[in-house]
Amino acid sequence: MKICVIQGPNLNMLGVRETNIYGPMKLEDIHNQMKAVAEQNNVEIEFFQSNLEGEIVDKIQECLGDADGIIINPAAYTHTSIAIRDALRAVQLPAVEVHISNIASREEFRKTSMISDVCAGTIAGFGPFSYHLAMISMIQILNEVARIKAQQAKNA
Ligand code: DQA
Repeated sequence: MKICVIQGPNLNMLGVRETNIYGPMKLEDIHNQMKAVAEQNNVEIEFFQSNLEGEIVDKIQECLGDADGIIINPAAYTHTSIAIRDALRAVQLPAVEVHISNIASREEFRKTSMISDVCAGTIAGFGPFSYHLAMISMIQILNEVARIKAQQAKNA
């Protein structure tokens, strides 16, 4: 089983950028923690970050046939990108939306997410720990999918 983690614009600046909101942890450190959880659960994991909307769309498309689930923080594109939403719908893979900050308690424009309703669920507001919770959720989803597939194969 493979999870693809997709990070949007400015998340490469975590640890430097608005640390009062996003905290002092760097993206690499967050990814190392996720990698440890993946290893403990025998799950393959790939990380991708881009500041460009089209590259994020390309990466989502590449997940088709390559990954079993997507963990995505589209960052600012969360609030604007129909293209990222359409790509998630196109690949039909289970996806978990993640945000470090609680987007529901910030500026009005952050309260709208273009992707929430095409994801299995959203985790927001727990700082870097949001990513850990997203891993637990995604592993749970993948285990459930595997269980259903095994059951279907048994009944066939
Ligand atoms: C963010 C929230 C977005 O509104 C913002 O543009 C980001 C990060 C978060 O993780 O809290 O860049 O997605």
